[in-house]
Amino acid sequence: MSPDADRHASAASLAAATIRERLDVGAPAAAIILGSGLGGLAARLENPRAVAFADIPGFPSTTVVGHRGALIAGTVAGREVLALAGRFHLYEGHSATLAALPVRLCHALGARTLIVSNAAGGVRRTFHRGDLMLIHDHINLMYRNPLIGTVEPGDVRFPDMSAPYDASLLALMREVATDAGIPVVAGVYAGLLGPSYETPAEVRMLERLGADAVGMSTVPEVIAARARGMRVAGISCITNMAAGISGAPLDHAEVLETTREVGERFERLVEGLVERL
Ligand code: HPA
Repeated sequence: MSPDADRHASAASLAAATIRERLDVGAPAAAIILGSGLGGLAARLENPRAVAFADIPGFPSTTVVGHRGALIAGTVAGREVLALAGRFHLYEGHSATLAALPVRLCHALGARTLIVSNAAGGVRRTFHRGDLMLIHDHINLMYRNPLIGTVEPGDVRFPDMSAPYDASLLALMREVATDAGIPVVAGVYAGLLGPSYETPAEVRMLERLGADAVGMSTVPEVIAARARGMRVAGISCITNMAAGISGAPLDHAEVLETTREVGERFERLVEGLVERL
């Protein structure tokens, strides 16, 4: 094993042992990664038991405004889940391997379904600020991969990525959205390194490449989840139209403002999905 892969493989099991000592995690129906400003779901968990990232071995504490930095076990719609309020971004200087560690931890704790969420810029011109986009597929433009290094026990060397986002989970989300009257759009998420937002020329390039939304997370987590055989559902909150589309300058405050506005719809969508798992 390469020293890096070795370090993170043991980090996942060490972190899992610590969590099990601190909390009863039960048999989680899903692990849910809450994107920037989308941490409100954590407050809706019943019987919440939290461990701060700072107390999990191998986890650095989060530094991004809008991320709490805690793993919370609790119940949603009567089902036990693990919620991650915060994640590790590559633009913080973290490796893709570290960005994937929370997913590996949740897998080690028994989760076999991953629900990822993120704040993203809308690339497709018919999208609007505040749309919820069901992720159908992604484009990895980070030029990083969390699986680089020796294969971790339980991973496949060359994971199939022909269906990274599970079709049956997508269908369930559509059902929930229809039943609850939550408007949704669907599309392809492009993951870039950041932290600078894209230029208008880059956004036009992304459009031509087939991206519908752009963000700075999610891709390493989904790759690791697929390498572990987890089923994945993804939701992007379109917090702003990407650079050059609306003409307005972009800033993180707007991103957080939109997630506040859309948070409740997002939470109902995730709750409905968990209920139907
Ligand atoms: N670009 C990249 N990441 C983002 C954006 C964006 O426009 N909005 C929220 N996250």
